[in-house]
Amino acid sequence: MILKKYASISRVHMNSAVSSDPTSKKTSDADAIAKSVEGKSWFKCRPVGVGACAGQQTVPNKAFEALVDTNDAWIKKRTGIAKRHLLAEGVGLRDIAVASAQEALLNSKVAPEDIDLVIVATSSPDDLFGDAASVASAIGATNAAAFDLTAACSGFVFGMVTASQFLQSGTYKKVLLVGADALSRFLDWSDRGTCILFGDGAGAVVLEATETKEASGLLGFALHSNGKGYSNLKVPFQSKYIEVQNEEHTKIDQGEYQKMTMNGPEVYKFAVHEVPLVVKEALTNAGLTSNDVDWLLLHQANVRIMEHAAKELNIPMDKVLKNIEEYGNTSAGSIPLALTEAVRAGKIKPGDVIAISGFGAGLSWGAAIIRWSG
Ligand code: COA
Repeated sequence: MILKKYASISRVHMNSAVSSDPTSKKTSDADAIAKSVEGKSWFKCRPVGVGACAGQQTVPNKAFEALVDTNDAWIKKRTGIAKRHLLAEGVGLRDIAVASAQEALLNSKVAPEDIDLVIVATSSPDDLFGDAASVASAIGATNAAAFDLTAACSGFVFGMVTASQFLQSGTYKKVLLVGADALSRFLDWSDRGTCILFGDGAGAVVLEATETKEASGLLGFALHSNGKGYSNLKVPFQSKYIEVQNEEHTKIDQGEYQKMTMNGPEVYKFAVHEVPLVVKEALTNAGLTSNDVDWLLLHQANVRIMEHAAKELNIPMDKVLKNIEEYGNTSAGSIPLALTEAVRAGKIKPGDVIAISGFGAGLSWGAAIIRWSG
């Protein structure tokens, strides 16, 4: 079953210079293809099990009517969100990261002590020094190195590509990747342009080394960043200096992190422009086209972004995995959360090709083409 798609994939590989994608006539698509780099195609890496855990408090759109000038109908129509799940009192990001990791381990039938590396992709850790080591410890991954990775809502995709490099090089055999965020911690609850969008959630995947192209579960990727768009979505540190009463008049920064600010329309324009392009670029690197995609799984930021990207990619909406209605935007958690739900529901079958794409603050965006073998 894992090999289901291999025949068509190798055929497309041979013809990869001439894309059969019907949408590839535009100049921008040619640019995406030109950016394709050898070495971003298949990797000795495959996903073998997933898990997820969302925040425990469910907050429907209606609850925001008491906070800001908004209403359920507007939020549903403009974003596709009906509710979101926030961390319950006393529950930390590490807790939902651990729960998702434990489910992923169980589903992959991998023992925690066999994990070589734990990566936690997050922008909202319980501890700024990183949550990965304590997540590793809590799940019993006693032989694993562990670190956090920050790439905002692109974190899961960037994390998967990072993990794949360790597997590709032969350094490690099994990596646990967690995408987890609780951006509710950084929301300005008086800003209707942001507070309605986000929820808290985590998802995890166990990735293991493979030897052959036939067994590979990461067929291609593309990653991008552009700091020029930084100010469109940020949680900045605001300096506040106090002067020490010593001879040197030493100044110490005692500032703190601010609330999230976002230029919604600019981020929207960025997403609808870049997401279809980066998915095409990753498909090209994989030697595939939109026609080979069984499931399109985009970061769950706005259903209108998903619809636009699917249209550009010529992928019907019934192949688009979405759970934004239930969870809103859970940042680095959103892709593995939706992936886990689709696997739990039996939608995704072994051999299915899934195009995933994350995008957000940085600005950063990326896509990876996965072949499911869990
Ligand atoms: N409830 C009611 N009205 C709202 C509102 C809310 N929660 N948020 C904004 N509005 C209002 C605006 O104030 C504006 O009113 P005006 O016309 O009187 O000035 C109007 O709705 C349209 O605002 P606009 O910002 O153009 O809305 P939009 O349709 O673009 O939707 C977002 C706003 C934030 C939903 C949308 O821009 C978006 O999804 N952007 C991308 C965000 C994103 O993906 N971020 C995360 C990336 S990881």
